[in-house]
Amino acid sequence: MERSVTVNAASAPFVVRDAVALPPSGVVAVEGRARRRDAYPIRVTRSVPALVEHVRELIGDAKVALITDRTVMALHGPALLDAFAESGVDAVVSALRPGEVSKSLDNALGLWDWLAHSRLARRDAIVTFGGGVVNDLGGWVASGYMRGLPYLNLPTTVMAQLDAAVGGKVGVNHAVAKNLVGAFYNPVGVVANVAFLTTVDDRHLRAGVAEAIKKAVIASPAYWDFLEVNADAIMARDLDALEQLVVCAAAIKTTLIERDPYEVDLRRPLNFGHTIGHPLETVTGYGPLLHGEAVALGMVAESRIAVDRGLLDVATYERIVQLLRRVGLPTRAEELSVPIAIEAVIAAMDKVRLIRAGSLRYVLPVALGATLIADDVTDDEARRALRAVGGRA
Ligand SMILES: NC(=O)c1ccc[n+]([C@@H]2O[C@H](COP(=O)([O-])OP(=O)(O)OC[C@H]3O[C@@H](n4cnc5c(N)ncnc54)[C@H](O)[C@@H]3O)[C@@H](O)[C@H]2O)c1
Repeated sequence: MERSVTVNAASAPFVVRDAVALPPSGVVAVEGRARRRDAYPIRVTRSVPALVEHVRELIGDAKVALITDRTVMALHGPALLDAFAESGVDAVVSALRPGEVSKSLDNALGLWDWLAHSRLARRDAIVTFGGGVVNDLGGWVASGYMRGLPYLNLPTTVMAQLDAAVGGKVGVNHAVAKNLVGAFYNPVGVVANVAFLTTVDDRHLRAGVAEAIKKAVIASPAYWDFLEVNADAIMARDLDALEQLVVCAAAIKTTLIERDPYEVDLRRPLNFGHTIGHPLETVTGYGPLLHGEAVALGMVAESRIAVDRGLLDVATYERIVQLLRRVGLPTRAEELSVPIAIEAVIAAMDKVRLIRAGSLRYVLPVALGATLIADDVTDDEARRALRAVGGRA
């Protein structure tokens, strides 16, 4: 198939000449083809002007629909919009109610209505400005609007800078399950300004760091060393430490994702802490426990299973627990504001097992930077681990 494109000058008529070869007679099958380059830059900055410079590099003079939440808008919106105005970025803003409740189909529909009545066109861009909720929702709205508008993530929480803004998993929650409706749709770029993290409260900061510790355990002894040395500086919101925290997490996450970007194979080390962590969120009603807190306790319980199986040595297990404790994350059920009923967690895991066609995968650490993925962990092993971390009968 040959194709030639003749462009005489920027404003000249655009001539496209094709001579598509036809399938031989009798051939009744044609391969549908599509190619997309899903690579994008992730930039880490320390100031709003530097962030806006990157935004301009990534979207040029496109108009912007900024999706944010009211807390982020109140804290950092004026500085961002001033810098946008100074550099000639034309933006309209929609600020949602903060929190997980906003990651909904209703809000997606509302945003599509808003976009439809805006002046945004096919080459303009959606910019998500907020935590994981805003990044997930805004990315999904971008994926559906005009069959996919470019979007850019400006994450403002540790959870979002370390995790949610990278990887292209976008979507909303449904009453039946979290993240049930969504897509894989990559941004044109991510710009993380670590100075935004100075206003994140301690609890959300710690919850985000849980995802950093997870990445270190599963994939990077070097990141583990960095976290052990810099845990106090990170919690003190030292910008050097935060910058390293974010840039290294992005490097680890993109390396792991690149092996299977659309999750064809569900044996993913990134799920460490989640096989037990997600059910902990479910049985406590998606409220009292932040996602990172549930993952922290999930990592302890899953590491316990690895110890019980003789896969992980007790000294490494203790190091994992100690680091989680040092940053103030829960490592025992008694530290949570709600009790953990072991049988309720087992029942919630059974539901997940059903959805996953009968198999529940555990990511079991065998050393720092190495995991074993097992689908033969029994409910009794899970019960023992939950008892060991303080769950109640
Ligand atoms: N797509 C992915 O790969 C992925 C990965 C991890 C998590 N997630 C999703 O991310 C969500 C959780 O993210 P989150 O913890 O950022 O939640 P969030 O977006 O609800 O933000 C947490 C709170 O912090 C506030 N906030 C945001 N930035 C702030 C700032 N700079 N200063 C002060 N307050 C600020 C928000 O208003 C909100 O109240 C969940 O929905 C989870 O499913 C997605």
